[in-house]
Amino acid sequence: MAAFRHISDAVAVITLSNPPVNALSSALLQAVHKALGEANEDSAVKAIVLCGDHGKFSAGADIREFGQPSKKRGPGLLLLCDLLEGSKKPVVAAIEGVALGGGLELALGCHYRIAHVQARVGFPEVNLGILPAASGTQRLPRLIGISPALSMITTGKFVPATEALKLGIVDEVVNENTVDKAIQLAKKVIDQPLGSRQLSTLPVQCPPNAEALLDEALVKVKKQFRGALSPQACIEALRAAVRLPYSEGIKKEKELFDFLYNTDQPRAQQYAFFAERKVAKWTLPSGVSWKTASPQPIRTAAVIGLGTMGRGIVTSLAKAQIPVIALEQDEKQLDIGRKAVMSLLHREILKMEQLGQSAAASQLGSVQFSLDYGELRDVDIVIEAVFENMALKKEIFRRLSAVCKPEAFLCTNTSGLNIDEIASVTDKPQMVIGTHFFLPAHTMKLLEVVHGRHTSSTSIYTAMHLAKTLGKIGVLVGNCPLFAGNRLIWQYMQQAIFLIEEGNKLEEIDQALEDFGIGMGPFRMMDLVGLDVLWKIETELGLMGPTLSIETLACQRGSKRYSPLLDILCKKKWFGRKSGQGWYKYEKSEGRNAMSDPWLHNFLSEYRGIHKLKTRFVSQDEVIDRCLYALINEGFKVLEDGIASGPEDIDVIYNNGYGWPKHKGGPMYYASLVGLPVVLSKLEKYYETNPDIPGLKPSGFLKKLVAKGNPPLQEWQSYLGSQSSKL
Ligand code: CAA
Ligand code: NAI
Repeated sequence: MAAFRHISDAVAVITLSNPPVNALSSALLQAVHKALGEANEDSAVKAIVLCGDHGKFSAGADIREFGQPSKKRGPGLLLLCDLLEGSKKPVVAAIEGVALGGGLELALGCHYRIAHVQARVGFPEVNLGILPAASGTQRLPRLIGISPALSMITTGKFVPATEALKLGIVDEVVNENTVDKAIQLAKKVIDQPLGSRQLSTLPVQCPPNAEALLDEALVKVKKQFRGALSPQACIEALRAAVRLPYSEGIKKEKELFDFLYNTDQPRAQQYAFFAERKVAKWTLPSGVSWKTASPQPIRTAAVIGLGTMGRGIVTSLAKAQIPVIALEQDEKQLDIGRKAVMSLLHREILKMEQLGQSAAASQLGSVQFSLDYGELRDVDIVIEAVFENMALKKEIFRRLSAVCKPEAFLCTNTSGLNIDEIASVTDKPQMVIGTHFFLPAHTMKLLEVVHGRHTSSTSIYTAMHLAKTLGKIGVLVGNCPLFAGNRLIWQYMQQAIFLIEEGNKLEEIDQALEDFGIGMGPFRMMDLVGLDVLWKIETELGLMGPTLSIETLACQRGSKRYSPLLDILCKKKWFGRKSGQGWYKYEKSEGRNAMSDPWLHNFLSEYRGIHKLKTRFVSQDEVIDRCLYALINEGFKVLEDGIASGPEDIDVIYNNGYGWPKHKGGPMYYASLVGLPVVLSKLEKYYETNPDIPGLKPSGFLKKLVAKGNPPLQEWQSYLGSQSSKL
């Protein structure tokens, strides 16, 4: 696994080799350990270079080995880092591709580090629910100081080589053969003293306010990643680096790692990691898959509609260096859209400059603003993001069909309208596909790719590939009202609204779900998305029935419970943040600070009186249960209907598009952890007391899985039998 080769000029090159990313499996660590021992004992060797095969240094510990108690990470790697640092012969790390997690720890054990200009380094452990446990939290702050180390370790971000050079993580960045350069450096430093290069012996560079900095960071991560333990543990490990000598700091690092390792969180986050890899490997029931299809290159794009979503989609394309034509319906809207896009792009440029990237503006794709559909004739892809209105979308696709070149992909960003119906007005339905972005589209990681009946496999692969180009995760789902993600969220929002009708304060509901770990409570989320958008979706999908006057508003539609509250707010033109008023009040339109609205509270008590709704005490647990189990229940229905190809797909959608806390793995993973019999019995209980809420009626698939003895999540799909997938 590790090749040890002796080269003539007294430099031994040790190559990490474990395809595809040189993950540090136990076997690889052992091999490196052996090769290092041999190099150190060989009197002909005067210096050592550590590098990686396949153009990558190492992506760190082998995540596949996690959860196997005997192969627990930590000491093996730590010992190797110490041996590298303690080597009497200088060791140079030649970093190509990535040096992540344990890979970076190995590099920090070396005396010198050279990186290729395209390499990236980082400590992504926090994303896996753990911390760098082989001295990373102790060596890094000794090399670059506490503040940048804090930022790297608590965010898990990948640092490009040029930034790593500025921070002092690497000694040199090269554009040519990194291993050759490392060999040259190794030869140069033979017999030079190594003391100042042994990071464990150096003091931590920390400013006088280091403790305050750590306290501040702790408050921030507790708020940002509610309930996640690893960001907090990372900070405590860094505190140990500030307060304690190296050897004590290492003990604390291990103690914190062991604590984290014994919680549920690392397993949930590792599940989420592999779920993301799984969804990239899509397969259709026909057998066509990512292996057999091929994507087309996207060199130019167009976006139609520059509202909340369109402006973010334009920015996302420009960030990926794809030139975009941005189209609106009239001069006024075009001007508003232009200003919004320019402001988003300006922010991106500032961010890039802060990261030390020169000529940032030139690294963005150009954006051309237009009212003329004729300009779209040569683009490779068009993404439509106009109002959620079938007639309007059809009109636009008719025009696109006439104007665009035959090989152009025609995408709709609809939240849940029928892709087949939209495609039916074109003469190339195979090129029509749903690309459902999430708000804000330039930062959210998810792209739900919706497969229509006629969508070709090339269109699917191109959209999935585009997701990757945009730095997003594409998840392929089937076509049904609201698709996968929104189907689940609809049930969740409905429960939240019913709960305020029953007497809960919306602030309490948001708080309860945010305390659970969801990024934004349902009412804050609805205000962000736009109540008008939700209202249009309801209208288009016929979810609301006839509109009634406020006096005659009924809380039932037939035998089903229905809340008219969204209609009431929208009729007042209270659309959420965008209008400065929605479920909450905002200091101004587009304001961020959600304030309680006394009018709404008074109105709700009056409303309960009119509709004779009984106010009752609902505990925080019931709030969480009803909202989450309704969402999870719909997840089982989505699986049963063949709209998602597995529970992992739903979890990736929720972790990356809806602010589900990754340390809880995703809603379906959460259900499996709680235990399906518990989920079922809670749903049965709530459905019994609310028989007019169909969302609480337990899914047949959930019942079947319980009857089959609560099998592990990975086996659920096998119980769907011959049911045909809608993918
Ligand atoms: N262990 C095991 N397998 C890994 C791996 C790892 N650390 N990193 C990536 N892989 C696997 C993926 O599962 C995938 O396998 P399949 O082809 O079978 O699906 C394959 O390598 C390629 O990965 P990607 O599809 O993600 O490829 P990419 O080019 O898009 O990204 C990457 C490459 C940036 C390295 C990305 O895979 C990544 O971020 N990996 C995780 C890195 C990480 O978190 N390292 C820290 C590990 S924990 C640690 O190191 C601490 C410790 O010692 C205690
Ligand atoms: P929006 O109301 O903010 O913007 C729509 C834009 O389309 C407006 O700027 C309007 O001028 C423009 N437009 C209307 N007719 C047009 C025409 N004929 N030609 C060119 N432009 C035209 O709406 P938003 O929120 O951006 O939604 C757009 C689409 O994205 C909808 O289908 C919506 O359901 C969907 N969506 C919305 C999300 C959200 O969170 N707001 C999330 C994901 C999808």
